[in-house]
Amino acid sequence: MRLTVLFTALIIGCSTTPVASPPASLPYPSYLPASAREGIARRMGRHGTEMAMMLWGVLLLDVSRLGPLADDIADRRNESDEVDAELQRLLPADFFALEATIGVAARELARLARAPNPDAVAIARIYGAMTETCVRCHDSYMRGPRPAAALLQGGP
Ligand code: HEC
Repeated sequence: MRLTVLFTALIIGCSTTPVASPPASLPYPSYLPASAREGIARRMGRHGTEMAMMLWGVLLLDVSRLGPLADDIADRRNESDEVDAELQRLLPADFFALEATIGVAARELARLARAPNPDAVAIARIYGAMTETCVRCHDSYMRGPRPAAALLQGGP
C-alpha cells in the first residue's frame, strides 16, 4: 500500500516537474532556530519569482513589467521590530549589507526602466549585478555568522 502511494507520488511528481526545473527553495540552515523560519520567509517574500519574471522583461526588451517588480524587491521589509531584532541577532551581518545592496540596485533598475528611452544594455548590466548579489546573500545565509576568530584573520 505504502509503495503504491510512493510510486503514484513519484509518477505525479515526474509528470508535472520538467527535468530541468530549478529546486523551489533553499534548505533551512541548521544554525537557525525553527522560530525564525516564518519571519525569514515573510521578509524574503517572493523575491526569487520576481527576479525570474524580470528576466523576461530584460531579455525581450519589455520594460513595462520591470518597474513594479524591482520596486517590490527593494521594498521588502519586516512587519515587526521584534522579528527584525531577532533576525539581526541570528543572521550574518553580510546578509543585511547585501539586502541593502540589492535594494539600491533594484531602485536603480526601476528608475532605468521608467526612463523615457530605456537603455536595454544598462538595464541588463544592473540585472547581472543583482544576480551576483543574490548568490552572495544565499551563500552568506547558508554559511551563517562567521566566528569572531575567522573574521579577525579574514579567513572563510
Ligand atoms: C538578503 C539576502 C538575499 C538576497 C539579496 C537574495 N536572496 Fe533569495 N533567498 C534568501 C533567503 C533567506 C531565502 C530563503 C527564504 C525561505 O526559506 O523562506 C531565499 C530564497 C530564494 C529562493 C527560493 C524560493 C523562495 O522564494 O524562497 C529563490 C529562487 C531565490 N531566493 C532567488 C533569489 C534571487 C533571484 C535573488 C536576486 C534578486 C535573491 N534570491 C536575492 C535571501 C536572499
